[in-house]
Amino acid sequence: MAHSNNLKFIPFQALVLILICFWSEFCTSRDTITSTQSIKDPEIIVSVGKTFKLGFFSPVNTTNRYVGILDNIPVTTAVWVANRDKPLNDSSGIVTISEGGNLVILNGQKEVIWSSNVSNPVANSSAQLLDTGNLVLRDNSSGRIIWESFQHPSNSFLQMMRLGTDAKKGEMTLLTSWKSPSDPSIGSFSAGVDPLSIPQFFVWNGSHPYWRSGPWNGQVFIGVPVMYKLYSNGFNLVDDKKGTVDLTFSYANESIVSYIFLNNEGTLQEKYRFVAKEDWTVPWWGPENECDVYGKCGPFGSCNSLDSPICTCLNGFEPKHMEEWSRGNWSSGCIRKTPLQCERNNTINEKVKEDGFLKLERVKVPDFEVWSPGLHDSCGSLCLNNCSCIAYSFYIGIGCMQWSGNLIDIQKFPDGGADVYIRVAYSELDEEKNMKTVLAIAISIGSITIAICAYYSWRWMAKQRGSMFKRVSSEVHTKVHCRQKPLLISFNIRKEAEK
Ligand SMILES: *[C@@H]1O[C@H](CO)[C@@H](O)[C@H](O)[C@H]1NC(C)=O
Ligand SMILES: *[C@@H]1O[C@H](CO)[C@@H](O)[C@H](O)[C@H]1NC(C)=O
Ligand SMILES: *[C@@H]1O[C@H](CO)[C@@H](O)[C@H](O)[C@H]1NC(C)=O
Ligand SMILES: *[C@@H]1O[C@H](CO)[C@@H](O)[C@H](O)[C@H]1NC(C)=O
Ligand SMILES: *[C@@H]1O[C@H](CO)[C@@H](O)[C@H](O)[C@H]1NC(C)=O
Ligand SMILES: *[C@@H]1O[C@H](CO)[C@@H](O)[C@H](O)[C@H]1NC(C)=O
Ligand SMILES: *[C@@H]1O[C@H](CO)[C@@H](O)[C@H](O)[C@H]1NC(C)=O
Ligand SMILES: *[C@@H]1O[C@H](CO)[C@@H](O)[C@H](O)[C@H]1NC(C)=O
Ligand SMILES: *[C@@H]1O[C@H](CO)[C@@H](O)[C@H](O)[C@H]1NC(C)=O
Ligand SMILES: *[C@@H]1O[C@H](CO)[C@@H](O)[C@H](O)[C@H]1NC(C)=O
Repeated sequence: MAHSNNLKFIPFQALVLILICFWSEFCTSRDTITSTQSIKDPEIIVSVGKTFKLGFFSPVNTTNRYVGILDNIPVTTAVWVANRDKPLNDSSGIVTISEGGNLVILNGQKEVIWSSNVSNPVANSSAQLLDTGNLVLRDNSSGRIIWESFQHPSNSFLQMMRLGTDAKKGEMTLLTSWKSPSDPSIGSFSAGVDPLSIPQFFVWNGSHPYWRSGPWNGQVFIGVPVMYKLYSNGFNLVDDKKGTVDLTFSYANESIVSYIFLNNEGTLQEKYRFVAKEDWTVPWWGPENECDVYGKCGPFGSCNSLDSPICTCLNGFEPKHMEEWSRGNWSSGCIRKTPLQCERNNTINEKVKEDGFLKLERVKVPDFEVWSPGLHDSCGSLCLNNCSCIAYSFYIGIGCMQWSGNLIDIQKFPDGGADVYIRVAYSELDEEKNMKTVLAIAISIGSITIAICAYYSWRWMAKQRGSMFKRVSSEVHTKVHCRQKPLLISFNIRKEAEK
């Protein structure tokens, strides 16, 4: 009797279980592929924490089948694709471990269409999908990792992944864009960290730079304004100064799923969401507007997306080809109006005054910066004393940066950015000199006002000294009265400087 009693409610539970098994991979989920446990379209494997899955999928507008690592939510995104250039045209695909120990994809005819290509694989290996989204091929006997998807990224940069350059091996790990949303094969854009003097993140179109992050200051890339807002401490860059750099990122909050991806139009975006939610937030890194495009205004040009036209020459420079420039073809950029004193062959008779610097505020610093050991107050004089130095900037976390040659890819930001000092001939400093005169006059007027004010209040207080009035109130009155004028003047100075 007890037995039949139990049967009364078991069927309901069994039904639920069966349903769960149907709707998810709950019952069969495993995270490993071995030579005996392969997966066949549409089977999948799921990482232990269920954050990522690996299996067959078709991008939008195509029936081609690809094997990829997918975010484990209903609206899936492929963060890694194996057979990018060799889609399966039907659902006969199999992912398994080959006799040689490589991870392989076989088509219906049992032909290898993709392989992990480890040159000396081991006989005894298995592939496991980790919760980080990394697919690792291990030697079972030793546990050693012989291949991992993190070292062969597609278009996505995941937390815990390393993106960088290994000088010893002569290798650079790059993201590569898809050709189109329905074709994961390798498109024309790639992205990665360039280990130049100060590391920068780049997007390249073919071999040409297409976007640049600005240099790394120890926390963020200083030319990516959104980074200041989003990630104060999530990124880490290790630079051995010998050409080996490694960029990683991870959020302290483990309930955030996030990755950076390069879309098929060459735009670098971040996607993030909370584990419990399914909708992504997608802030842009760049290029978002025309000015983000590398070298938009040519050498010595500066780009401001809020201006029309967007390109202007730096102060002291003029368009190289006026007619071309006014047509909106800025690629030739600008040239100096007056040669630098230090570049001229000065005869003894011809005395030319020393060059100076014009300040450029709140910009993405130009490309090809060179780090110099200069300190905050010596950075400028070091530059002035070296004729090949044509600009400098001091930035906290980086130090003294100097430039020689062309200044390219300068972009004006509404806020943030760095101040760059551009070397120009003395005669080009006129504007600045005028402004200094205005400042000097304003300051002297201010000082005179203060002096007069002080004189009167001293006289007034002297008068009061004998009287029985409250001293406190008179002091307060005096202070307020005397502060007004100088304040107004300093406001005017700032307006003047803005022009
Ligand atoms: C898919 O195809 C439809 C119809 O051709 C088109 O409107 C849509 O934009 C395509 N989607 C993508 C992502 O390419
Ligand atoms: C699919 O591709 C195979 C070769 O990889 C080819 O033999 C077969 O005819 C194709 N099938 C279709 C339906 O195109
Ligand atoms: C594996 O190696 C072969 C031959 O060296 C090459 O043709 C193929 O593209 C490689 N596959 C991958 C996925 O690297
Ligand atoms: C390798 O290890 C995995 C997981 O531990 C196991 O399932 C598999 O059978 C092993 N493969 C071989 C060939 O021993
Ligand atoms: C494969 O690895 C397992 C341990 O994981 C070991 O017991 C077994 O002997 C290995 N097989 C071969 C063929 O090396
Ligand atoms: C990328 O380069 C190709 C070839 O040089 C060019 O046709 C294309 O317009 C470029 N794309 C962008 C977005 O600049
Ligand atoms: C992670 O973020 C979520 C959502 O904002 C928040 O509720 C949670 O407290 C955070 N956890 C930690 C450890 O900060
Ligand atoms: C812009 O000028 C450069 C240099 O003179 C020339 O090579 C290029 O074709 C021009 N581009 C356009 C769109 O006219
Ligand atoms: C300065 O003199 C050198 C050689 O005496 C010459 O090559 C150079 O062109 C001169 N530069 C200028 C700006 O006249
Ligand atoms: C002058 O500046 C150039 C470029 O910044 C640099 O290569 C060179 O070493 C500097 N020379 C001296 C003497 O500092």
